[in-house]
Parts: sequence; C-alpha cells; structure tokens
Amino acid sequence: MADGIDTPAFVIDEKALRRDVALLRKIADQASCKLLYSPKACSLSPVLRGVAPKVDGFACSSLFELRLVDRQFGGAPTLHLTSPLIEQKTLEEFGGRLDYLTFNSLSQWRRLRGAVSAETRVGLRVNPQLSFIRDPRYDPCRRNSKLGTPIGGLADLIESEPAGLRGVTGLHFHTNCEATDFAGLLATARHIRDVIPKVLKQIDWINLGGGYLFDSAGDYADFYEAVAIFRETFGLEVFIEPGAAAVRRCGTIEATVHDIFDGDDIQIAILDTTVNHMPEVLEFQFEPDVLGHVDGGLHSYMLAGCTCLAGDVFGQYSFDRALTPGSRITFLNMGAYTMSKAHRFNGVGLPAIYARRPDGSLDEVRTDRFEDFAQNAGVTDIAVA
Ligand SMILES: Cc1ncc(COP(=O)(O)O)c(C=O)c1O
Repeated sequence: MADGIDTPAFVIDEKALRRDVALLRKIADQASCKLLYSPKACSLSPVLRGVAPKVDGFACSSLFELRLVDRQFGGAPTLHLTSPLIEQKTLEEFGGRLDYLTFNSLSQWRRLRGAVSAETRVGLRVNPQLSFIRDPRYDPCRRNSKLGTPIGGLADLIESEPAGLRGVTGLHFHTNCEATDFAGLLATARHIRDVIPKVLKQIDWINLGGGYLFDSAGDYADFYEAVAIFRETFGLEVFIEPGAAAVRRCGTIEATVHDIFDGDDIQIAILDTTVNHMPEVLEFQFEPDVLGHVDGGLHSYMLAGCTCLAGDVFGQYSFDRALTPGSRITFLNMGAYTMSKAHRFNGVGLPAIYARRPDGSLDEVRTDRFEDFAQNAGVTDIAVA
C-alpha cells in the first residue's frame, strides 16, 4: 500500500484526538467540572497517552482497565471505578490507589463497604428512572434495570432512615448514548434535584457519566445548566466521563477489497475486514461512514466482511470510481467501541494498530499474529515460524 499500512488496520489520528480532547477540556473548564476519560471506548496505548495530559482521571469499569491505566502511567492518574461487578480482590489490590469507587447497588455497598480503603471516596450509582433511549438494550433506565439504585428507593430510604447513606459521599448516573444535545441531561439533573434533594445535600460529588457527543453538539447551554444545578445549588464537585466524544472521530478502519462479483442486483465487494472488527455495526444495525461514498455515485457495491456469517456486511455504498481488487476502503469515525469490542471470530486476526503522529508520520503500534490467536485458544506448543 502507498501509505505502508497492512490492512486490515485501525489508525488512530493523534492530531484529531488532541483536537477533540481539547474541546472536552474547554467545555469542562467553562462548566467548572472535572473531566475523566472512559477507557471502555478505546483503551489503546496511543489513546490513553493522548488523553492523559488533558483529563483529571480515568473512569474504569473493571479490574483489567484499572490495571492497564495504572501501569501505563506508573500509578500517577486519578482512578475511578464503576461497575455492577466489584470484587473484594479488586479492592485489596488497589487499596487507597482507588480514588473514587461507585457501587452499583445498596446491597453491593453494604456487603463490601468494610473492604474499602479510608482514602477511597465512595459513591452510589443512581438510576434516575428517566429514559431517553428507545432501544431497551442500551437504556440504563429501562424497567428492572441492573444499572444503579432506582431513584424511588433512594427517596424512600432518605425519608425512612436519614442515616442510611452515611459513608456515601457521591452519586453517579449514566443514562444516555450518542446524544447530540443535552436536553436529556438537563431533564435528568432537574429530576434528581426534585426527587432526592436531601441526598444531594449530604454528599460532596456527583458524576454525570458519558453518553453525549460533545463534538456534534453546537449548543452547550443545557449542559452548563445541568452542571450548575449540582455545583451551585448543592455545592457538589461535578465529574463527566465521556468515552466516545473523545475518540470516535479519531480512528479509521482501513481495509482492502479482495474480490468483487455479481449479486442479485448489486455487486458484492469482499473486504479483508469484518463486522467483528466493529461489532456495533451488527449490534446496532447501522451503516458505518465510508470515505468516498457519494449518494448516487456511479458505481455501487455491497461492502461485505470476510467471515462465514451471511450478515457480515456493512451496507450498500456508491463511489464515483469503480472498485477493483486492491482498492482501499476507509471506514470513518471508528475510534470508539471498535478495538475494545473487536474479536477474532473465524480466525480472522484483529486489525493492526497504527498511530498517525501529529507530523503525519505513521507508526505501527501492534500487529495481531497467529501466535496471539493460538495463545488465546490455549495452544502454546506451536513452532513459531
Ligand atoms: C458508566 C459509564 N460511563 C461512561 C460511559 C461512556 O459513554 P460514552 O462513550 O457514550 O461517552 C459508559 C458507556 O457505556 C458507561 O457505561
């Protein structure tokens, strides 16, 4: 390839990452809130290193994420943990290194509170029971949600047993997904203010979660107002923990066309990538953005992945130029939830990882090898070529 990339590849553009994290930093400063990064969106080393200088810490969701961030930066950054699964061994391993710990339920908190270090600030995830997402698979506020303590229960508890939350210093909520305006956030902030003011009066901090695409929103007034409800009315320290907003626009998946043949009514182009490299394409059933696609373009194709799954297809795309075997296909806006969810189904290796440095040069960060696949399968006694 002319740019020296072996496909399939994931390319992280460090200049774009700097731009989008700087935007988040500016908005957080304007609102006087703390900015965390959620590594679940993308935990690759160039991303962690790119965001670290601009954020106030990392919002982890598992023991491995905690270890990864901790080791990448030699114990330096502020660490937050929020998860439906918190184990005693995690608390023991991290001890006072864990700065903020959000329990998912009252029962989880009551069972593990004795194992939490005195230096760790304890929070509770609340489910505000106010839904904004139509698809219940992605709605943390769905009926019988596993994510957080229902706000109604907290309101009852604070009335019936005012000391029942002693030891809880903060609240956490995360209720949206890829929202491009902040109306939902403001409605949630008002709702929490109105339903559990007594809880807000006795805590010190609140985390508003992620789920908002700051880069796609033009108007931040509702965001600033939501933060002000907690900061100014209740004097709380406010955190946000975006993931996708920091990295979504900064990554591409690069693929090569390997075969083209006639389908029933459109040509099929087989690529050397698959939806397994971007599983949300299948999960959410959306067509990813492709460089060079033009509505009504002269040459149309069904772009298809290379596995045996019939539904391993990206969609129909049109181009002004004809594709041939060897043509490059670039999937845009692939920075978030691609490499952190990618897998090797069918024995198709993961994309190689490249970093496009701010000066435009490309560095290979990692190449997936057969040995990685074999090791993952527990096959270790293979002769390495
Ligand atoms: C608790 C929590 N915080 C933050 C995030 C990051 O969300 P996003 O990448 O949509 O900003 C998520 C994503 O699922 C989450 O579950």
